Amino acid sequence: MPVGEAADMGHADDGTPLLNPRLFDSAEFRRNPHPYFRIMRKHYPVYHDKLHNCYYITRYDDARRCAVDDLGFNTIPKGIASTVLGNTQLELSGVEHRRRRGVFDRHLAGAALRDRIPAIERLAEELIADWDSGDEAHVQDRAGIRTVELGAAFCDQFPVRVVCEVLGFPAEARSQFNYWYQTMMAGFGGSDTAQQGLEARQDLEDYLEAIVQDRRQQPTYLTDAAGNPVREDLISTLSRTRVDGDYLSTEEITSYIALLVGGGGETTRGAIINMWYLMLQHPDQLAAVARDGSLWDAAFQETLRYAIPTGGMQPRHATFDIEVAGVTIPAGALVHIVNHSANRDERYFESPDRFDIFRNDLYTGKMLRSGFNRNGRCSHLAFGSGAHFCPGAFISHQEATACSRVLLRSMANPRLNRASMPKDIDGVGLAPIGLEAIRELWIDYDPPPTATGRATIA
Ligand code: HEM
Repeated sequence: MPVGEAADMGHADDGTPLLNPRLFDSAEFRRNPHPYFRIMRKHYPVYHDKLHNCYYITRYDDARRCAVDDLGFNTIPKGIASTVLGNTQLELSGVEHRRRRGVFDRHLAGAALRDRIPAIERLAEELIADWDSGDEAHVQDRAGIRTVELGAAFCDQFPVRVVCEVLGFPAEARSQFNYWYQTMMAGFGGSDTAQQGLEARQDLEDYLEAIVQDRRQQPTYLTDAAGNPVREDLISTLSRTRVDGDYLSTEEITSYIALLVGGGGETTRGAIINMWYLMLQHPDQLAAVARDGSLWDAAFQETLRYAIPTGGMQPRHATFDIEVAGVTIPAGALVHIVNHSANRDERYFESPDRFDIFRNDLYTGKMLRSGFNRNGRCSHLAFGSGAHFCPGAFISHQEATACSRVLLRSMANPRLNRASMPKDIDGVGLAPIGLEAIRELWIDYDPPPTATGRATIA
C-alpha cells in the first residue's frame, strides 16, 4: 500500500469503497487516519460502525450542527472521563454546566488572560535557561551543533507549569503535582493504570483539603514580575465560590483542577510540538514567521486545523431519533463528532492535506464559540463549538505563540534532526502526525556563542 493511501478493504457492486470497522482499532488508522476519513466524508458522511456500536459524523457542516445542537446531541455521562477526572462539566448540560463554565471563562480569557501573559513568557524563558545550565539531559552539544529533544526538554513541562501558575498551586508541591498529573493522564489508558490514576486523584484531593480551608480565609494572588498582586488565583476563587449559599466541596474543586490539567496540559503540549514539527518541515514558512512574529497566530490555527493534538472526536448521545445527512441516528446511540475529519473537509478547505499558514480559506482571528464562516473563511473545529467550546482556546493560543517566540529567539537556525526522528512505514519519510500529537521532536540549532557548561559529545 503506498504511503498516504487507504488500505483496500474491497468495493461494493457500484464501486463504492468498503470500510471494515476493525480499522478503527488498528495501528494503521492511528498512524494516518486521513485517507479513511476522506472515504467516509465522500461515501459515508454518517458512518454506522456496527462493531463498536456507534456513529461517526465526518463532514464540516454536520459536525458543527451536532456540536451546537445541545438538545439533540447531549453530553450525558459516557463513563470515559468520570473515572479519573471525577464529575466534570464535560458531561453536564444546561444550568449546571453554565454555572461551572463561568469560573473558567472568568479566569482563562479577556483581561485575566492578558494579566497572565508576562508570567507565561517568564515560565518559557526559565525552562529554556535550563538548557544552558548543563543540567537538562535532553540537550546536547556536538561539533558546534546543539541538539534538543523539544518534547522532554520543553513541551512536556511548559503547559503544566502554566496550569500550576493559573491555579496558584503551592510552589513547593509542583513536582508532586507533575506526578499526579502524569499518573491521572496515564489512568485513561487501561485497568492497571486506571487504579493508579484514581489513587493519584485521591492524593491530590487529600492534599487540597487544607489548602482550600486556608484560601477560604486568606486568598492568594497571581503576581507580576515585581511581585505585585495582579488577581486572585483559581484555587482561591474556587475555594470562595458559593452555590446556593454552600461552598464547593474539595471533591468538586478537585474535579475542576483535574479537568483543567487534563484539558490544558496534554492538549497544549501537543499543539506546541505538532506546530514546531510542521513548521520545521516547511522552512520557508518558518523563515516568514522569523521575519514577522505575528504570523505565529496563523501557524497555531493552521496547526490545529491540520493536526488536532488530542480530542479530535467528541462523544455525544442522540437524545431522540435524529436525521443527519440522510441517516437516521436512533435515540440513545453513541455519536462521535469527528473534528479531525471536519478540519480536512475539501468542501471548505482547498487541498486540505497541505499545511499552509498562508491559506486564505482558514479563519485565524479570535476563536468564537459559534464558529466563523464568512467570505470563504472558516474556523477549524479543534476546539469544538457550541456550549462546550473549549474555554482554554485563548490561553492555549497565547501559551503556544508566546513560547514559540521565545524558542525562536533562543535557537539560531533551527532545523529538524531527521536522523533521530521516527520514520513512516516506508522507513524513509518522516512519520505523519496521526490521530494524536507526536511524542518527540529532535531539533539541531547553532548554540549561542556564550553557552557554557554543556556536555560535549565526541
Ligand atoms: C490546543 C489545545 C486544546 C484543544 C485542542 C482543546 C480541545 C477541546 C475541545 C474539543 C473541547 C470540547 C469538548 C466537547 O465538545 O465535548 C474542550 C473542552 C474543554 N477544554 Fe480544551 N482544548 C485545548 C486546551 C485547553 C486548555 C489550555 C484548557 C485549560 C487551561 C482547556 C480546558 C477545557 C475545559 C475545561 C473544557 C470543558 C468545557 C465544557 O465542557 O464546557 N482546554 N477542549
